[in-house]
Amino acid sequence: MDNDRLKNYILVGFMGSGKTRIGRELAKMADMTFYDTDELIEKAAGKKIRQIFREEGEASFRERETKLIRGLVDAHSEGGVYSTGGGLAMREENRKLLHQLGTVIFLDIDFDTAWSRLQNDTKRPLLQTPDRAGTILRLLDERRPLYLDAADLIVRADNTAPRHKVKEILTRSAQAGKSD
Ligand code: S3P
Repeated sequence: MDNDRLKNYILVGFMGSGKTRIGRELAKMADMTFYDTDELIEKAAGKKIRQIFREEGEASFRERETKLIRGLVDAHSEGGVYSTGGGLAMREENRKLLHQLGTVIFLDIDFDTAWSRLQNDTKRPLLQTPDRAGTILRLLDERRPLYLDAADLIVRADNTAPRHKVKEILTRSAQAGKSD
C-alpha cells in the first residue's frame, strides 16, 4: 500500500448497491467512524440532495462532492468509513482523491438486483425519469468501468448479510495490504 495513503475505507458503487448498510457494519466491526458523503453535503449545504439538484443543478452537486473529498484529503482525515454517492467516482479527479483517502471498495451490483431495489425509489433525482429501467441500464453501463478503475477491492453486491460482506472485505483488504 502506498505510504502516503490515508487510513480510511471508501465504498463506491451504483445507487442501491448497499454502500450505507455495509459501510455502517464495516465501521462497527473495524471500530471506525461511519460517514455518508450525501449526508455531509446536505449538512454543509443546509438542504437535501433533491433540493440541491433542483435549485443548483447536478453540476453544482458534483462540485460539492469534489470539494468535500478534497477537504478530507487536505485535512489528512483518518479512521473513517465513507459511503459515497453513486456518481462521486465518475470524475477522474475524484478517483485520484479517493485513492489518497484510503482503500476503495467497489460494491458491484447487477441490473436485476439494482432494479429490484430501485424500481420504487422516489428520492434519487437521476431516477425520476419516464424510462427508469433504461436509465439504470445506461448509467450502469457508463459507470461500471469507472468504479472498476477506482477500486482496490471488488465485492459483489447481492443479498448476503452485511456482516458476511464485511468479513470478506476485512479479510481481503488485509491480504491486499500484505501483497503491496
Ligand atoms: C447519485 C447517487 C445518490 C446521490 C445523488 C446522485 C448518483 O447517492 O449522491 O442522488 O449520481 O448516482 P446513492 O448512491 O447513495 O443513492
